[in-house]
Amino acid sequence: MRVVRTLPTLTRAIAALRMRRARIALVPTMGALHDGHLSLVRLAQKRAERVIVSIFVNPTQFAPNEDFRSYPRTFASDRKALAAHRVDLVWAPSAETMYPEGFGTKIVPEGAALAGLEDAFRPHFFAGVATVVAKLLIQCDPDVAIFGDKDYQQLKVITRLARDLNLKTRIIGAPIVREKDGLARSSRNVYLTPDERKAAPTLYRVLKECAAQIAAAQPLGAVLDEGRAAITRAGFTLDYIEARHSETLEPIGSLRDGPIRLLVAARIGRTRLIDNVGV
Ligand code: PAF
Repeated sequence: MRVVRTLPTLTRAIAALRMRRARIALVPTMGALHDGHLSLVRLAQKRAERVIVSIFVNPTQFAPNEDFRSYPRTFASDRKALAAHRVDLVWAPSAETMYPEGFGTKIVPEGAALAGLEDAFRPHFFAGVATVVAKLLIQCDPDVAIFGDKDYQQLKVITRLARDLNLKTRIIGAPIVREKDGLARSSRNVYLTPDERKAAPTLYRVLKECAAQIAAAQPLGAVLDEGRAAITRAGFTLDYIEARHSETLEPIGSLRDGPIRLLVAARIGRTRLIDNVGV
């Protein structure tokens, strides 16, 4: 497995990977890899002969008050896990390679990026993600790129971005990987104290209960109100729990207007968790 850190080396390495018309899959990550990321790698290996994993903690998607500095960086163990999974290439550029002196271009997505979910609480986030993902897709030029369903709004924004910019890469979503008690795998779970870790699966439990009640034609507003109360009782500060159209992320009034995705974001201690389920 090659670890590549500069653009000229990346271009040469990708040309070598493309020999004999091999298809290439990209799995973009910010490192601190866990089973969720490795499931993306396994899916990538089913979709293409060659797999590139990018590791770049992207400063532009963090606001000044967020955890860019403390974001877990575990390059040595990430590298070991990717080698064990027989990944072909790790693209690990520096911030200077991605954003050299004088860098002055930003992609500011609209549509799903303005759905009033993550964007309402992290207004800087999707411009940072869209810009870095567009760069990664242009740099690696993959046939497919795999993103987790956990960042569901992000997945929708990136799918639209690839279509709108006529990128040839097909964007594929991959199912959320959960701990045994239901907590969605996330690099930020390491921030949880033991007590917070015990409370954390509440989010998934509430999402599942709400989804079951909505599927049984219970009134959506009342179901979500109960969900809000249950999450707050468990010690979270709730950012949102919302029922949205699975594709457009537009607000939805009833099951008939579906398919529905339930999305939640909540903070416990210093950790902000997100999760979602289909109805
Ligand atoms: O989901 C992530 O890990 C990041 O937002 C991504 C897509 C790698 C862009 O930095």
